[in-house]
Amino acid sequence: MCGIIGYVGHRPAVPILLEGLKRLEYRGYDSAGIAFIQNKELHIIKTEGKISKLEEKVFSQDVLHAEIGIGHTRWATHGEPITKNAHPHKDRDGKIALVHNGIIENYKKLKDELLSDGYEFVSDTDTEVLVHLISREYKKTKDPLAAILRCLEAVEGAYAIGVIFLDRPNEIWACRHSSPLVVGLGVGENFVASDVPAFLPYTKDVIFLEDGEVAKIGKDVVEVYNSNKEKVDKDVVSIPWDITLAQKGGYKHFMIKEIMEQPRVIHDATAGRIDFNKMKVVLPQLDEYPLPDKIQIVACGTSYHAGFWGKYLIERLSRIPVEVDIASEFRYKDPIIHKNDWVFVISQSGETADTLAGLRLAKKRGAKVIGVCNVVGSSVARESTTVLYTQAGPEISVASTKAMCSQMVVLLLIAIYLAQRKDFSQREFFDQLLFSLKEVPQILRKELPNIRDRAKELAIKYSFARSFFFLGRGLFYPLALEGALKLKEISYIHAEGYAAGEMKHGPIALIDQNFPSFVIAPKDDLLQKIVANIKEIQARQGPVICLTNKDIPVPSTDRWEIPYLNSIMTSFFVLSATQLFAYEMADYLGKDVDQPRNLAKSVTVE
Ligand code: G6P
Repeated sequence: MCGIIGYVGHRPAVPILLEGLKRLEYRGYDSAGIAFIQNKELHIIKTEGKISKLEEKVFSQDVLHAEIGIGHTRWATHGEPITKNAHPHKDRDGKIALVHNGIIENYKKLKDELLSDGYEFVSDTDTEVLVHLISREYKKTKDPLAAILRCLEAVEGAYAIGVIFLDRPNEIWACRHSSPLVVGLGVGENFVASDVPAFLPYTKDVIFLEDGEVAKIGKDVVEVYNSNKEKVDKDVVSIPWDITLAQKGGYKHFMIKEIMEQPRVIHDATAGRIDFNKMKVVLPQLDEYPLPDKIQIVACGTSYHAGFWGKYLIERLSRIPVEVDIASEFRYKDPIIHKNDWVFVISQSGETADTLAGLRLAKKRGAKVIGVCNVVGSSVARESTTVLYTQAGPEISVASTKAMCSQMVVLLLIAIYLAQRKDFSQREFFDQLLFSLKEVPQILRKELPNIRDRAKELAIKYSFARSFFFLGRGLFYPLALEGALKLKEISYIHAEGYAAGEMKHGPIALIDQNFPSFVIAPKDDLLQKIVANIKEIQARQGPVICLTNKDIPVPSTDRWEIPYLNSIMTSFFVLSATQLFAYEMADYLGKDVDQPRNLAKSVTVE
């Protein structure tokens, strides 16, 4: 969950490395560094803190003549986020520099061996063993491929690695196992990075490396080898994203830009998936599989909340039982999966380590694994039996917003698809649902500015709070969990999501006049139940923000009205309101909205 960038080509490398690192900063931002070859010398500049600090340090020096280099932005796993632990790390002769994303699980044993061989370590990282191992082998053979492969034979764990050698000033070497790495192909220049946005201004043509492959990246040629040193032919994939999607476009933060993009995201996630002549959901990827007896959903974080919302919906519409598990639990619980079950693996990045482990386990047990994923060519996309892309475009803010919105649309389509395949008798109901889904983007686009204004008023009023409950029932219970997660992630206010009916079984003990509850109570079948829950809170002097619809009589301290279409589509307005509340709160409190402390967007370690 760090970011790697490498550049070799005809332009000054250092500005490209720094620009690429800024686009990868969402992957980690506690320290950063670059290595480059200039005037036949290998230079390393690194610092604790963010890329802006690295930039200050770099541009106070003469750095504009290098045409090759690697860079890294770190999210600490082994060793504190201080300068000596920042990457790149170098070998003891100062002739090889290396950056690494992932964890070397057997580093302690390897380090002890190297120490007894006379090697000295200057950092507390697991990474440093890699550069010494490669250096030891390289001295013997002068063959970088052989040296890297020998090193990888000794190593256990997850890694993406970039290496440069002083005596090979025209080549970057890169390899991966369980951590993402993608090669970007330009004209007279080539790139390697953890994620496509790092080099998107320069090229959209990419090669995805597979586990165990090693790439040699020169300015005019890229060669990929397998672990037997044989050259591998790789497909070149063209990424459909535009660079403007990876920029702030006039907004103060990526997060608010991404929330405001949700009307387009809803539209794009349905594109080509609804036949309005036949009023049918079209998901040809799923047609060949017999309907499942059971569905299993596996995901982490915000994607898990989308999956939980999907469970309610799929069960309600198709009557197929759905189990949802947090991936880090699923992978170790010896799950019961049958061959005719479908397993949906939901991941924005497609690289989350726990989610990938869940995917591999489900596949091993013979299930059909359907990836629901945003990043084209990511590990989830490639390893699933089939994939449904959510088509949300690059999500840069660490707190996920539009990705969840797009996952919900895909899950809604899956629910309708399953229901229609099972039984087409409730035709009118599904016609109405599909029509209302078509209307949502337009209404949401018009309403988002009003929702944002109200979010800001309420965020300011409640900024005194040290804790919040987010409460909902039915479809709105998963959205309450997500509302609480969003608030704690970016404003650092403690928040818990609960099923509103569960309050009386313990949590209500915390309620007093300083402990507000954010209650999601739009018009639906459970409205009267949630009104009773609100009254219980008010009887204990708890302030209540109530997210509801016009003309719905609900008690509250502060009423917040959002448009009503039907309870399913109202979910998209609820989602936006809770996201905007968290955003406005964090911004008002002066927090680092796009890069909250201790978090990273893509968690590629266990
Ligand atoms: C990290 C991010 C969350 C995200 C989760 C799952 O923890 O900070 O925002 O929801 O990973 O990520 P995925 O890419 O698998 O959806």
